[in-house]
Amino acid sequence: MKHLFLFFALLTASQFTKAQVQIPLIPKPVEAVQLGSTFILDQHTQIFGDENTAAIAHYLQAEILKYSAVSLRTGNQGSANYIHLKLTPKVKQPAEAYQLSVLENKIEIKASYPQGLFAGVSSLLQLIRQQNVVKGRISLSGWQIKDHPRYAWRGIMLDESRHFFGKEKVKQLLDWMAFYKLNKFHWHLTDQPGWRIEIKAYPKLTLVGGIGNHTDSLAKAQYYTQEEIKEIVRYAAERYIDVIPEIDMPGHATAANRAYPAFSGGGSPKYPEFTFNPGKEETYAYLSSILQEVDVLFPSQMIHIGADEVHFGNAHWNKDEAVQQLIKKQNFKDLPEVEAYFVKRMADSIKNMNNEVLAWDEIVSGKLSTDKTTVFWWRHDKPEVLKQALQKGFKVVLCPRLPLYFDFVQDSSQVLGRKWSGSFVPVQNVYNFPGAAVTDLPNAGNLIRGMQANLWTEAFVENQQLDYMLFPRMAALAEAAWTNQAGKNYEGFSDRLKKHFRLYSLDGLYFFNPFRPKTSPEWLTPLQRKGLVPNNEAQTKQEKGG
Ligand code: ACM
Repeated sequence: MKHLFLFFALLTASQFTKAQVQIPLIPKPVEAVQLGSTFILDQHTQIFGDENTAAIAHYLQAEILKYSAVSLRTGNQGSANYIHLKLTPKVKQPAEAYQLSVLENKIEIKASYPQGLFAGVSSLLQLIRQQNVVKGRISLSGWQIKDHPRYAWRGIMLDESRHFFGKEKVKQLLDWMAFYKLNKFHWHLTDQPGWRIEIKAYPKLTLVGGIGNHTDSLAKAQYYTQEEIKEIVRYAAERYIDVIPEIDMPGHATAANRAYPAFSGGGSPKYPEFTFNPGKEETYAYLSSILQEVDVLFPSQMIHIGADEVHFGNAHWNKDEAVQQLIKKQNFKDLPEVEAYFVKRMADSIKNMNNEVLAWDEIVSGKLSTDKTTVFWWRHDKPEVLKQALQKGFKVVLCPRLPLYFDFVQDSSQVLGRKWSGSFVPVQNVYNFPGAAVTDLPNAGNLIRGMQANLWTEAFVENQQLDYMLFPRMAALAEAAWTNQAGKNYEGFSDRLKKHFRLYSLDGLYFFNPFRPKTSPEWLTPLQRKGLVPNNEAQTKQEKGG
């Protein structure tokens, strides 16, 4: 009798869990209620709205055609079966809040702001792309969804100085960011190996500074022309993604210094010609005119000035005549004071261009005021720097190496990528971030703008290698940044994630499967055969110290 009872209890429990169908969306929305109805999407389905929603309607139409080969009409007459995009009166809520109802004969997406409408469209597209198209028809289960993000900043940083991937790869990245509701693309365009953004006033920055990359110092110049930058910024804007350029200074300036040595502040034996010269007035005019061109290209009105790791290569400042004069004139006691002076002047210049200043966390110990300034906390081994940034009142974007540097391996079996004293970045660690150690800090609630993953590319040459580091961790990042802590559940996420692998394959992505990690060498073998995968030892050394 006891056994029989247990049997029925288990049966009921398992049926109950089965009945709890998860909404097949990443990131998981705040609220999703299944309705039991079905919507049939086919060529008769009309997308309608008004002139304010036309661009988003067109995006939805194009994406459905591209991925599902169903051609929908846009218009405003309505029809028996339609998708209605509706901007509602503005109320106080996050700009990306939306409601999506998939009913029997209509789908309705409502939001107060276009960003919200776009987020709703992203959700709908995810539902559509996971369904099979049968004779030109797609069946969608009925859902009532209410949603808004946890964090406003949900980003990916790509380093194209170390290796250059080009605009088609960047567009594909932007497509997947839109798919996952990631909304900030931080573009690391200048560093030691190469300068990748055309500056009309200083053409040698790309013609000379664009030559070479991390593995081949003689590789032909690779860079984005201003026309190409505009094209990518436009492409991102259609997906409600802000593009933030990073022009790294005063360190990591080696490529620029190859082109215009007059502005070099020299380097150190290990990092020659690493810095701009903070002692020369001309340097400030030079960099400001570069940033003026940058400002015009990027409507995000945000410029990232790096400002990281200056001490790696500023030894020459101790001997440089101009720097020594500055030290004397300003009564500085050490090189960090010179660095802080330089960063403050450039930050002021950026603020004068009506841009926000973004920088790595080294600026926390500098002289910047907190207005229009955001700190990117990257040194996971220095939690005190995050604490100090919040204490001083800086806005913060979280991107600690562990677990948000995507150039770190994601499984112990993985050959390509970095480790930190044996630690690495499994998808689950990305998912679980940020923990209470971060969110319980004083001021965390109002000063943390969000989080982003950084993909440095010392070790990555090929598109497939890039994919492998991004997928599927990008999905975990998206849910960690969007979904409230209470809604997060790794098991549920894993079930939803598995269904995305088919979409990755359809898009030609070369991804890691964390649920079958032993199969990963199978993915890497072709690259190893081509000799593109450095051996484990070499890659796990923390060669750039960063
Ligand atoms: C960094 O990794 N140097 C920001």
